Amino acid sequence: MTRSWFGSSAVHPGWPMSVGPLRVRAGEVRLRPIRMRDAAAWSRLRIDDRRFLEPWEPSAEVDWVARHGISSWPSMCSALRGEARKGRILPFVIEVDGQFAGQLTIGNITHGALRSAWIGYWVHSELTGGGVATGALALGLDHAFGPVHLHRVEATVRPENAASRAVLAKAGFREEGLLRRYLDVDGGWRDHLLVAMTVEEVSGSVAASLVRAGKASWA
Ligand code: ACO
Repeated sequence: MTRSWFGSSAVHPGWPMSVGPLRVRAGEVRLRPIRMRDAAAWSRLRIDDRRFLEPWEPSAEVDWVARHGISSWPSMCSALRGEARKGRILPFVIEVDGQFAGQLTIGNITHGALRSAWIGYWVHSELTGGGVATGALALGLDHAFGPVHLHRVEATVRPENAASRAVLAKAGFREEGLLRRYLDVDGGWRDHLLVAMTVEEVSGSVAASLVRAGKASWA
């Protein structure tokens, strides 16, 4: 059967697939599709890390704890997997040594003449500083520019988010500008830096660049 990105039989290039592993200081990092049985780990880490995550995440009307209860996961997971099958999003769990350590999402995927998407991530506070986000981002970018055939990936980050800006810089993102009052985050309209990368800027692969720079090694 002939498949097309636009017809009813469209499939997602690169979904469902696992990506990696790549070894960083904290352990072996891998991306894999979210699944229903992630509910307990997702809920526990998100509720434990409320203070750490809330300053950087879009505001919501529902309280953090209610929104991150175990019972919230099945409908969210199923909706995200449905969007993934349609080729619009890639919702990954970041695993470190086989354990749930955070999430990396590639969203608003468009094909055709744009071939673009955004990327975002979070890592459990107990694992930060070990290169996990950098490794996961490199794997996500290589997946986006490889099997998904994207041309451009962008990200937005609050100027105050020094750790995430460091992660983006290590992966090779380039700043394109400041988006004023871009997103409602932590109860207010916050400026965000727009950063981007196109496939022409990748030398071989992003993971290989990290390995060459001594920031990761092949697992
Ligand atoms: N100032 C400057 N650099 C800093 C600071 C700081 N205050 N804090 C940490 N860093 C650096 C670290 O030194 C490290 O760089 P190095 O390896 O060269 O020493 C880098 O930031 C962090 O790199 P990783 O270890 O790969 O990242 P980590 O696994 O710790 O995860 C993350 C970083 C994802 C930002 C984590 O802290 C987190 O989840 N924060 C809350 C949620 C969040 O901010 N998500 C990102 C939103 S923006 C986006 O998604 C595009």
